[in-house]
Amino acid sequence: MPDGSAGRTLPAIAREKLVRVTFLPEGRTVEFEFGTLPWGRHGRPMSFLDVAEHCGIELEHACGGSCACTTCHVWVKEGGEGLSAAEDDELDRLELAADQQLNSRLGCQAVIARPGNYVVEIPRWNRNYVSEGRRAAARPE
Ligand code: FES
Repeated sequence: MPDGSAGRTLPAIAREKLVRVTFLPEGRTVEFEFGTLPWGRHGRPMSFLDVAEHCGIELEHACGGSCACTTCHVWVKEGGEGLSAAEDDELDRLELAADQQLNSRLGCQAVIARPGNYVVEIPRWNRNYVSEGRRAAARPE
């Protein structure tokens, strides 16, 4: 798989081990081999927050990924069946999230449990928070 570097080629990832995550609305897609992402200590290992942090994608995480806020709230558009089940503490926290939907998860708690395609959307109010340079509190409209 070409990586854009002159003459350099990354090793191909076997299809059955490929994880592909698309972050909306930015539309950035990242790929990696299942189980090989080194844990970056942001949220649970191989959570959406962990993946985002590895790949330079802004996903707010005010509590550092310890399930103590809702700033990492995402909507899972595709691949929900491949994620870890939400535990009670995540469900309790999600009840406090703005604009909660049936596909809501906390990015720091939703762990990619198997290879496949995943699409998550970062809610607009959270994106606003990022675009404001993290100086203002997130406010849903
Ligand atoms: S970063 Fe605070 S709950 Fe996920």
